[in-house]
Amino acid sequence: MEKPSIMISRTCCYHHPQLWFAILLSFLLCTLILTHFNYSSSFEPVVFNNVEQEQQQEQDLCHGKYVYIHDLPPRFNRYIIDHCDSLTRGTDKPNMCPYMKNMGFGPRIYSPESPHLFTNNTWYETNQFSLELIFHNKMRNYKCLTNKSWEASAIYVPFYAGLDISRFLWVSNLTVRDASGRDLARWLWSQKEWKRMWGRDHFLISGRISWDFRRQHDTLSGWGSNFRFLPESMNMSMLSVEASSWNNDYAVPYPTSFHPLKELEILEWQRKMRKRKRPHLFTFTGAPRPEMKDSIREKVIEHCRSSQACKFIDCSYGKEKCDNPVNVIMEFGDSVFCLQPPGDSYTRRSIFDSMVAGCVPVFFHPGTAYSQYKWNLPENRTRYSVYIPVRDVKEWDKRNISVEKELMKIPEDEVVALREEVIKLIPSIVYADPRSEIEDAFNLAVKGILERIERVRDEIRNGRDPRIGFADEDHYKYTFN
Ligand SMILES: *[C@@H]1O[C@H](CO)[C@@H](O)[C@H](O)[C@H]1NC(C)=O
Ligand SMILES: *[C@@H]1O[C@H](CO)[C@@H](O)[C@H](O)[C@H]1NC(C)=O
Ligand SMILES: *[C@@H]1O[C@H](CO)[C@@H](O)[C@H](O)[C@H]1NC(C)=O
Ligand SMILES: *[C@@H]1O[C@H](CO)[C@@H](O)[C@H](O)[C@H]1NC(C)=O
Ligand SMILES: *[C@@H]1O[C@H](CO)[C@@H](O)[C@H](O)[C@H]1NC(C)=O
Ligand SMILES: *[C@@H]1O[C@H](CO)[C@@H](O)[C@H](O)[C@H]1NC(C)=O
Repeated sequence: MEKPSIMISRTCCYHHPQLWFAILLSFLLCTLILTHFNYSSSFEPVVFNNVEQEQQQEQDLCHGKYVYIHDLPPRFNRYIIDHCDSLTRGTDKPNMCPYMKNMGFGPRIYSPESPHLFTNNTWYETNQFSLELIFHNKMRNYKCLTNKSWEASAIYVPFYAGLDISRFLWVSNLTVRDASGRDLARWLWSQKEWKRMWGRDHFLISGRISWDFRRQHDTLSGWGSNFRFLPESMNMSMLSVEASSWNNDYAVPYPTSFHPLKELEILEWQRKMRKRKRPHLFTFTGAPRPEMKDSIREKVIEHCRSSQACKFIDCSYGKEKCDNPVNVIMEFGDSVFCLQPPGDSYTRRSIFDSMVAGCVPVFFHPGTAYSQYKWNLPENRTRYSVYIPVRDVKEWDKRNISVEKELMKIPEDEVVALREEVIKLIPSIVYADPRSEIEDAFNLAVKGILERIERVRDEIRNGRDPRIGFADEDHYKYTFN
């Protein structure tokens, strides 16, 4: 284990001032004891051992953080990447293969028009569905990996769940649609790692929303697979870009196109976003959904179109406009606020693209961010966002909501403070280069899941039933408050 020791030497003294104080104190005590009592040879080694032992345990900064990566049969991950040309439906691209390049970051962006803004090797054309690959590659570089599964605090299951199900979402034969999930569950159950905690220390990640794995009834009209309702799966935790209302689902940010390697690249970008002139008060990027006439999203589009202060970027025409990350980031960077109504699902990738560009998000539903990204965003939502809660279009009309008026009301100093907070959050919401030391969305997610598993372990130790609050539903997640 070479890597952890490198980390130790770099971070020990900053993170554990108390430890060094404790060691110093025990040496002082020891000296005191030795001078006050007649010298007794039995004293010295005992004291020395205690200190040494304490040092050893505390110096293992990976203690409690070890992760074991399950070595799955290739059909659950590598095979899907090797056959990326078959991933068309269910993703948003005719060919997903280019997006698998560069550890899942996708093709590099080189922007000759703005080379000073989009520096080489920091920006990629990242597709949200490659999050599974990105996460796996980052996990391979995680500082506290172990090959001894008994030593691990958590077991990572590198199943590319979303890419896998994208091949079967429109298959009407439910046996076929559910097959990989069922086979994976069987495989996991038969491993020795399973028995230790019955899977409660296992976790996986999906680049698709978790509802795609939560078909409750075996009817053809039901959406998605039944993966998360299999008994084995119910004992595991799943991270995904949008969590459902079940307690063993956790949300992590959608990947953006920004993947810095060095701290300096983040600082440079933050400086640029602070200085940027923002000619538009607010902006909305998305495609109208004529079939969803009575949706908040349509209301938002209507408002944006009729307001002088709003820039509407219609993604239904000239699609490349919204697909090109350089364009998207530039547009968000031209705006003070970015509207984020719920769409086909509660969440959108655009939340994170806009925040990376220093644009303050405006949310309309608690499920769009507040009940989701708890490991990455501040608990106090007023610090970094504007909240205009509306349950439905009827309420919107009744209250005669004007987004423009609501935003105009916010005093300039508050706007500046909001933007500063958003810019400060950038490192917490991006997936940095796997070789990077930046405390990013990945690190926060691993920290979050380790803490969660430790709590479950505590419950088992204390004789409580680990099933409570695990695979059951929490409707409060989506309640307006
Ligand atoms: C960035 O990459 C482009 C294309 O590969 C290259 O022409 C350019 O010189 C690079 N710029 C820097 C600063 O490395
Ligand atoms: C685990 O084993 C693999 C294959 O033997 C090896 O490449 C890797 O370095 C080992 N990892 C750790 C953390 O020991
Ligand atoms: C669904 O697929 C399975 C496996 O290929 C097959 O055995 C079964 O007959 C199919 N069911 C229907 C209703 O077509
Ligand atoms: C799930 O966990 C419970 C204990 O918490 C255990 O009794 C049960 O057998 C586990 N299910 C599976 C499929 O392993
Ligand atoms: C939340 O943040 C706002 C703005 O920074 C602040 O005024 C408020 O006191 C905070 N609320 C809590 C509960 O900390
Ligand atoms: C609704 O708000 C708009 C713009 O603020 C205003 O012009 C209009 O009179 C209001 N309508 C009602 C019924 O209050």
